[in-house]
Amino acid sequence: MNSPPSSRLDSAIARLMTLRICLDWATAETLSRPGPVMEFGLGNGRSYDHLRKRLPGRDIHVFDRHVAAHPDCIPPAERLWLGDFRATAPAAVQRFAGQVALIHGDVGSGEEAASQALAGELVPWWAARCRRCSRPAPLPWTLSSPRSVTCSAKDQRP
Ligand SMILES: C[S@@+](CC[C@H](N)C(=O)[O-])C[C@H]1O[C@@H](n2cnc3c(N)ncnc32)[C@H](O)[C@@H]1O
Repeated sequence: MNSPPSSRLDSAIARLMTLRICLDWATAETLSRPGPVMEFGLGNGRSYDHLRKRLPGRDIHVFDRHVAAHPDCIPPAERLWLGDFRATAPAAVQRFAGQVALIHGDVGSGEEAASQALAGELVPWWAARCRRCSRPAPLPWTLSSPRSVTCSAKDQRP
């Protein structure tokens, strides 16, 4: 018997399970590496909350155009970068070049083409921010979905 077609509920569950697997892997890799963490895409704060629970005490800088997160998941003002990523990223470049231990990008909307295009703009920038990263390619990104990319410093060694 054929299995029923995948629903949006199936897709959401698969995306979140995959996201958790990727974040658990990436944060375990990051525990022994110093440096700040960056979260692109606060959304309702789910992945930010997961990062801070898996990396207690670590500075997590969060980027989004606005705050629409669960009240328990709003980052402190000094680590919240509000505005379009393209506008907030340059100041972060100045401040954290070569220091960042982990960047998680979950920047997509429901529009796959637009999300891929935005990720394509941001991925080289992210690669250049990680510690020990000397080149943005090849990119061993962990794709948790078309919307979400996780990279850790270890993966970016030349
Ligand atoms: C999928 S949601 C993030 C979900 C979040 N990681 C979570 O687990 O709850 C994507 C977020 O990226 C933000 N975003 C998308 N494009 C952006 C841009 N160009 N500049 C700033 N924020 C952007 C949206 O406002 C949205 O909050």
